[in-house]
Amino acid sequence: MPYKKIEEADIHFFSSIAGNNVLTDPEQLERCASDETEDLHYLPEIVLQPETVDAVSKIMRYCNEQHIPVTPRGAGTGLSGGALALYGGVVLDMKRFNKVLNVDKRNFQVTTEPGVITQELMDCVKAEGLFYPPDPASKGSCFIGGNVSENSGGPRAVKYGVVKDYVLNIEMVLPNGDVIWTGANVLKNATGYNLTQLVVGSEGTLGIITKIVLRLIPAVKHDLLMLVPFRSAMEACSAVSTILIEGYTPSALEFMERDALEWSMRYVKSTGIYLPNDIAAHLLIEVDGNDLEQLYKDAEAISQLVQQFDIDEVLFADSHEQKQMLWTLRRKVGEAVKSNSIYKEEDTVVPRAELPELLQIIKRIGKEYGFQSVCYGHAGDGNLHVNILKGNMSDEDWKFKLPEGIRVLFGEVVRLGGTISGEHGIGLVQKDYMSIAFNEIQLGLMKQIKNVFDPYGVLNPGKIFS
Ligand code: LAC
Ligand code: ZN
Repeated sequence: MPYKKIEEADIHFFSSIAGNNVLTDPEQLERCASDETEDLHYLPEIVLQPETVDAVSKIMRYCNEQHIPVTPRGAGTGLSGGALALYGGVVLDMKRFNKVLNVDKRNFQVTTEPGVITQELMDCVKAEGLFYPPDPASKGSCFIGGNVSENSGGPRAVKYGVVKDYVLNIEMVLPNGDVIWTGANVLKNATGYNLTQLVVGSEGTLGIITKIVLRLIPAVKHDLLMLVPFRSAMEACSAVSTILIEGYTPSALEFMERDALEWSMRYVKSTGIYLPNDIAAHLLIEVDGNDLEQLYKDAEAISQLVQQFDIDEVLFADSHEQKQMLWTLRRKVGEAVKSNSIYKEEDTVVPRAELPELLQIIKRIGKEYGFQSVCYGHAGDGNLHVNILKGNMSDEDWKFKLPEGIRVLFGEVVRLGGTISGEHGIGLVQKDYMSIAFNEIQLGLMKQIKNVFDPYGVLNPGKIFS
């Protein structure tokens, strides 16, 4: 569908709604031209930073009538290109929706605007003795609205679940400007279709999220962290199931191939971990709870359990600083890979017990298609981030052969019972692979749903479906 280019009259209208928060200077457009996804670059024609729901509503109604594309944007930390203005038009930057509106201690809920940094939201509810668990690697800079839009996960998902498990209700502006709530602020809801969960993970294609009601749980007092070095990466993957099957549910169960940890150490200039030559991978294991004695017992039992594998000495973090250091190393792996090589990231997820097979398949396909990969991620969820490195691959192979390799990989992932994105979304970069995960009937239904919400296709066009 041809979209209308933005003209003086449109800018005039936007200024009447959003006042000074209408940005056309090249620096601001440039700031919104990319996110954390590889090296993509799409320049919007204009950036709007509305402050009220009413302003969002008026902007949407106008753009819908004028056929101007609108791309919602959070903090720009996305990994699938969801916030990029593929067809130019408006980037709707939600940074001014930055207030936690209400912590309802009596009901264990928080109502927040979407432009609040996830870590700040966590800190805010923690001050009230409450806990919002989902903790994507970028929690210190990403927005909660982006997390809801992508159904983000993070290390704690293995015990506490992902964003969808906490969203109770959403206020959103539809493409035609109507403002709705999707559900109710309740823990149980068997009333009609579940619009709330339809919007979670919809990648900004159905409406603009303006308020979110999240479920909270009581704050947890203690956690213990350990790093287990394995001489075989496959065994590290196998150990994940062993731990869970024995009845332990760590609050994080993270896998890092050797390169992931080594590169991250170099990236943050850390010398805190001794890395013998024969170590192939690590598991970073956290347990949490309120009974410290019990936690020590669990940690000890897990460290005994992994002795059946070929491992080196288990490192127990013995101070707050050491815990911080280990978590920093884990959270910085993505950035470290990015700084090291041209790369593509695939966010594979399989049923947890199939993880060793997935790792084997990734390496086999790498050999066939001539690429190296660095794998890491949320092993406890069967969610492996596969960072494919360009390395010595020719531009030609990178462009034409690699997509075939990825196609084969995703085929195998689906064969194992998994799917092609666990927590990063489809956005721009994975949309050509959607037909591996869904057939024509399923895709047809999804496209019809999109059409009901957004008949003119003005909202975040070019995402999810090719
Ligand atoms: C992580 C991001 C990339 O797990 O999802 O580090
Ligand atoms: Zn992740």
